Amino acid sequence: MPLHVLHHPLGTHVLTHLRDKTTKPALFRTLSYQISLLLALEATRDLATEEKKIETPLEPITGRVLARPLAVVPILRAGLGMVQPFLDTFPDVSVGYVGLERDHTTAIARSYYCKLPPLDGKRVIVVDPMLATGGSAAQALDVVKAAGAKEIVFVCIVAAPEGVATVEKSHPEIPIHAGVLDRQLNSKKYILPGLGDFGDRLYGT
Ligand code: PRP
Ligand code: URA
Repeated sequence: MPLHVLHHPLGTHVLTHLRDKTTKPALFRTLSYQISLLLALEATRDLATEEKKIETPLEPITGRVLARPLAVVPILRAGLGMVQPFLDTFPDVSVGYVGLERDHTTAIARSYYCKLPPLDGKRVIVVDPMLATGGSAAQALDVVKAAGAKEIVFVCIVAAPEGVATVEKSHPEIPIHAGVLDRQLNSKKYILPGLGDFGDRLYGT
């Protein structure tokens, strides 16, 4: 599946402030909300709709409404910063949680939590702001597939080419929506130029 990179002047603006090391957690959270809303709209452009007959104040018409509910699945902890725009914008959203944490030396993600709603029949949107090696994303996608998800999209704010390659190899049918595609990983598997540790900046840790 192709990688979809966000093209919107507001996205570029927000990303620049997210990257700025002087941006404090309160503003960082607001910016995360804003770019996640833009990404939520991109990741749902092709949602199925169905006919609905209604009456306007003037005449009956057949309109269209969303045909299926969404499930948004943040990868804890940083993914939590991307959930609220989905809840605020879409009429029928359930939330699942996959807890993964990268080891500081190996950068391999360890699973510590999982709680998912029924996923069959839903558009399942797995969200995590940083796609670095792709290890966390690939594991989370394995988990939602094993839980019955069939229509899955992965959404991140900053992607590294290495992470995109990992997800494309392990889950070739899953579309990836990214706010930006950065240059590379450094020797500690952080994204360059990136924005540092998203979870730490979101929560001030
Ligand atoms: C960060 C980030 C992703 C992961 C990406 O989380 O939020 O989940 O690293 O790296 P990867 O693509 O190499 O797997 P981290 O493990 O630091 O946990 P946190 O969200 O609790 O800060
Ligand atoms: N996780 C982050 O929060 N930032 C990176 O650059 C890589 C992984």
